Amino acid sequence: MAFLPLRGLPDRAISPVAGDWLESLHAALADPGCDRALLCRRTLAAISFPEYAANWETAVADPKLPPATRLALASTDPRNVTLEPEYYADCDDARFQPVKPLLWLWYSFDRTPLGGQNVWLGVLLRRLLAPHVFRTVGENFKAFQHVEFTFGYNMDVGDNVVVHRHVLLDDRGGIRLGHNVSISDYANVYSHTHSIVDQREVTNVQTVLEDGVRITYHATVLAGVHVKEQGMVGAMAVATGDVRPYHVYVGIPAKSVRVKPNAPSQDLISPTAASRTGEHRVGGE
Ligand SMILES: CC(C)(COP(=O)(O)OP(=O)(O)OC[C@H]1O[C@@H](n2cnc3c(N)ncnc32)[C@H](O)[C@@H]1OP(=O)(O)O)[C@@H](O)C(=O)NCCC(=O)NCCS
Repeated sequence: MAFLPLRGLPDRAISPVAGDWLESLHAALADPGCDRALLCRRTLAAISFPEYAANWETAVADPKLPPATRLALASTDPRNVTLEPEYYADCDDARFQPVKPLLWLWYSFDRTPLGGQNVWLGVLLRRLLAPHVFRTVGENFKAFQHVEFTFGYNMDVGDNVVVHRHVLLDDRGGIRLGHNVSISDYANVYSHTHSIVDQREVTNVQTVLEDGVRITYHATVLAGVHVKEQGMVGAMAVATGDVRPYHVYVGIPAKSVRVKPNAPSQDLISPTAASRTGEHRVGGE
């Protein structure tokens, strides 16, 4: 294999404008009295409807404008939309409502030309929003486009975590990501599950990806699973139970196929022996 670390790119010519924009958002969010819904509305209106940004109320009420335009403009205000978690009985409104405007800004930005696949600006915006959404977040958080959360407020994120495009982080029961965790494109990490008899019976349980864990393309980690330090879940796998440290699990249900060569000696238990130890329990330790 070739060693191909990410390369640097020159600064964008528009960087100073971006710096001013991000700084204004940063300052607004740092104010404890910040009206986050209004901040979200003004930000999204400035991006998508600049002609109406200064007279938002008048335009939304203007019968001469097409209804779809008025609705789209109104939807820049998170108070005019519902997000799926708001329908959940276990949604803690006292925690979710302050987070909702920032999630709506995050998701909506990703669907504009300013956001979309604009990596450099998107990463900076999401890094700025994350501390106001998650319970905790460390240094250098890096999220690509179209990442979704359930509540957001039940996320604990370590340093140098990378979340690639189109990842679902269902933090309904809580998700803890250790340092240097990487989650690849289209992966799903769940922390709630339903009774097979009555889907209204829900179990919320924290899911943990320890330091150095990699969840690869299109893999799914079910609620309550602990992926131990440096564990890896292969492409398309479904982790239904705990993943041993330094082990590589693949398939459905995911099972160990190898131990990373850099594993400390106590983790050098062979995949075959590991599968005899019963570590594939749902929920795990
Ligand atoms: C997890 C992964 C790295 C394992 O690679 P590996 O250690 O080289 O494993 P091997 O290719 O030697 O495969 C070992 C066995 O598991 C099987 N296997 C490998 N990956 C599999 C997968 N995703 N699903 C099912 N089986 C898989 C192989 O067919 C092989 O089976 P065999 O012994 O019966 O022939 C690789 O499967 C994977 O998913 N790569 C995703 C790409 C990636 O690295 N993404 C991260 C981006 S950040």
